[in-house]
Formats: sequence, C-alpha cells, structure tokens
Amino acid sequence: MVAALSIDPIPVLETDRLRLRPLELADAPAVQRLAGHPAIADTTLNIPHPYPDGLAEQWIAGRAEVARGGSGVTWAIADRATAELYGAISLAITWQHVHAELGYWLGVPYWGRGYTTEAAAAVIAYAFSALGLNRVVARHLPRNPASGRVMQKNGMRYEGVQRQHIRKGDRFEDLVCYGVLREEWAAGHP
Ligand SMILES: CC(C)(COP(=O)(O)OP(=O)(O)OC[C@H]1O[C@@H](n2cnc3c(N)ncnc32)[C@H](O)[C@@H]1OP(=O)(O)O)[C@@H](O)C(=O)NCCC(=O)NCCS
Repeated sequence: MVAALSIDPIPVLETDRLRLRPLELADAPAVQRLAGHPAIADTTLNIPHPYPDGLAEQWIAGRAEVARGGSGVTWAIADRATAELYGAISLAITWQHVHAELGYWLGVPYWGRGYTTEAAAAVIAYAFSALGLNRVVARHLPRNPASGRVMQKNGMRYEGVQRQHIRKGDRFEDLVCYGVLREEWAAGHP
C-alpha cells in the first residue's frame, strides 16, 4: 500500500501563457459564472445546471481539504499575465494503484485557444515528476471530441470505451478512455 501524499500547499505551475494556482474563495463568483454555463454541465459529470448560489464556495473549500488528504489536487487555470480566471483542472489520485484521473473545464469564452491542452501538459508533468505516479487516465463523452483532442495532444493513448458507464439525466452514456504511462511520458521528456 502506497501512503497518500498530502499536497499542502498546492504548488503553482507556470506555462507559457498560464498560471495554475490553488483556488481561492475570491474565485467563487467567476467559478459560478463560468462553470454555470449549460455547456459545462452538459459534458461533465459533477457540475450542475443551474449552478446554485454557495456551491462554488463549498467546492473551493472542499478542494483544499481533498489536497491536504492527498486524494486529489485542483488548480485554477488563470492567465499568467492578467490573472483572469479561465477554468479549473484536477487530478483525482488513487495511491493504492499509483495512478490518477485528469479532469478539467474551461469557461466557454476561452475555448479553442489551446489553453486546456497547455494546462493538461503541466499537470501531467507534475503527476509524473513531482507525485511520482505511474499512470494518468482521462475519460470523455463520445459527443465531446474536443476533450478527446486535449488527451491526444498530450500523448494519451486511446484505451477503449466503457459502454453506458454513466447516467446523465435520463440516459446512459459511454465514456471514451485514454491513458498515459510514466514510461511513455518520460520517453518524450528526457
Ligand atoms: C473540453 C474543453 C476543456 C476543451 O478546452 P479548450 O481549451 O477549448 O481545448 P484546446 O483548445 O486545448 O483543444 C481543443 C481541441 O479540440 C478541437 N475541437 C474543438 N471542437 C471540436 C469538435 N467538435 N470536434 C473535434 N475536435 C474539436 C480543437 O480544434 C482543438 O484541437 P486542435 O488543437 O487539434 O485543433 C472545453 O471545451 C470544456 O471545458 N468543455 C466543457 C467541460 C468539459 O467537457 N470538460 C471535459 C470533460 S471530459
């Protein structure tokens, strides 16, 4: 059994254009506005629409606690120059298997600029190099190919489909699975 690593404080990760940093309570209004767009709820599993008052504050406080316990880590995706909040990205960690699932959402006005791909690259690097994980996975709905592209552009390999794995509203939907191993990532990052 591998002991959970407490992630406290959550480190800041910088990329060319982005600053990934811990979420703060002051982010709550922007989180509610951006995550509250129906297009975000439509292709994610745990974001409701309409997005109720108080949920963003509750979620932000909970994420800090989860990181302290070591079962996950969530970053705000913000502009490196202007500090504008764009979205969020996370790892849900299973220490027993030394792997994590990557998840993310980006505010609709910022789609299509490569931001999530850039953020995911930094988070995957952190997962392997700082946390020492062996594998990172991610899953998307078949009707969300943009998310699949983010996975592909980060060297994740298609691993198959979990048929009718989730229920959204009144229908079952498939999940498309991607994964990358530490050795594959390391080969591309000597
Ligand atoms: C999925 C999501 C995070 C992508 O964010 P983004 O910052 O726009 O992603 P990027 O710009 O880094 O990359 C998107 C890629 O998808 C491609 N894409 C966009 N729409 C597409 C479509 N309908 N079909 C195929 N590819 C598409 C883009 O062209 C780009 O690929 P390219 O660089 O090869 O051209 C964003 O759309 C989102 O937050 N969606 C709602 C929440 C969600 O679905 N989260 C993921 C759950 S698995």
